[in-house]
Amino acid sequence: MVGPPGAGKTLLARAMPGILPDLSLEESLEVTRIYSVADALPPEMMVRTRPFRSPHHTISHAGLVGGGNWPHPGEISMAHRGVLFLDELPEFGSRVLEVMRQPIEDKVVTISRAQGSLTFPANFMLVAAMNPCPCGYYGDSLKPCTCAPSTVTKYQKRISGPLLDRIDIHIEVPRVDYQKLSSDRLGESSDAIRKRVQAARDRQTARFAIPNSPKIKHESMNVISNADMRVGEIRQFCKLDEAGESLIRAAMGQMNLSARGYHRVLKLARTIADLAGCDQIQTTHLAEALQYRPKIMMG
Ligand SMILES: Nc1ncnc2c1ncn2[C@@H]1O[C@H](COP(=O)(O)OP(=O)(O)O)[C@@H](O)[C@H]1O
Ligand SMILES: [Mg+2]
Repeated sequence: MVGPPGAGKTLLARAMPGILPDLSLEESLEVTRIYSVADALPPEMMVRTRPFRSPHHTISHAGLVGGGNWPHPGEISMAHRGVLFLDELPEFGSRVLEVMRQPIEDKVVTISRAQGSLTFPANFMLVAAMNPCPCGYYGDSLKPCTCAPSTVTKYQKRISGPLLDRIDIHIEVPRVDYQKLSSDRLGESSDAIRKRVQAARDRQTARFAIPNSPKIKHESMNVISNADMRVGEIRQFCKLDEAGESLIRAAMGQMNLSARGYHRVLKLARTIADLAGCDQIQTTHLAEALQYRPKIMMG
């Protein structure tokens, strides 16, 4: 989420837990094992709600990805099967952000020590928020931006292209005008949205309820949701019709879509189709997914 201060980015992110689907028993056990190792189990000894972690940008490398002399899970593992919210993303040092790239791909993190290496699950949904520039008002409809253009570019380059490429949904969060804020017309409630999300998740559970391949490296890599799909599942479950094929072919050229970007778009389109209750990915679903790709590839 990119937008000026006060637009509601932090508010939106903090509302996420209210629309997340239930933890399945399988997921609950995975998460509970991590919290047990971290000595962070809740009083009932079982984690039953999806984690929501929002570490401060001063967090250390080991605090985020895990480590220490007696290796402990980092925030990316504490957020397993839940949300990792990084507010004010550019404030996290680039070194800290770059180490997340591998776990985002692998959904596990391996910590190497002289005595050997240790792997923790780290299959999380990354949610990040940032202002567009240091003053915060670049592109704002009312307040002029006071940053030099080179400062804006430098600020945005703090997030590398490869990290941006791994973020599926890029959205601008503009300021909300007074009229909308003061009107008593309420938006949709989190409860109503959560029902829709749960239905989409149920479709995914049914889709992947086939026996998982016996060769998986780690049980936490079981395919439970669309985001977990690997190339094989993508081929099987994200088939496009002819119109979709030609749309994505055109996009690959025009948007300079990487192979990773291509697979990510298909998975997102699958989820948009699931939210719409459709078995087949339609062109509109694909077009929506493409529209969330980063507009500018920075860095
Ligand atoms: N869309 C909105 N609807 C209602 N209140 C809002 C909205 N956007 C912002 N606010 C109010 O403004 C405050 C600041 O929003 P915040 O999420 O901190 O903005 P940001 O993180 O984008 O700087 C919120 O706590 C909330 O009270
Ligand atoms: Mg904020």
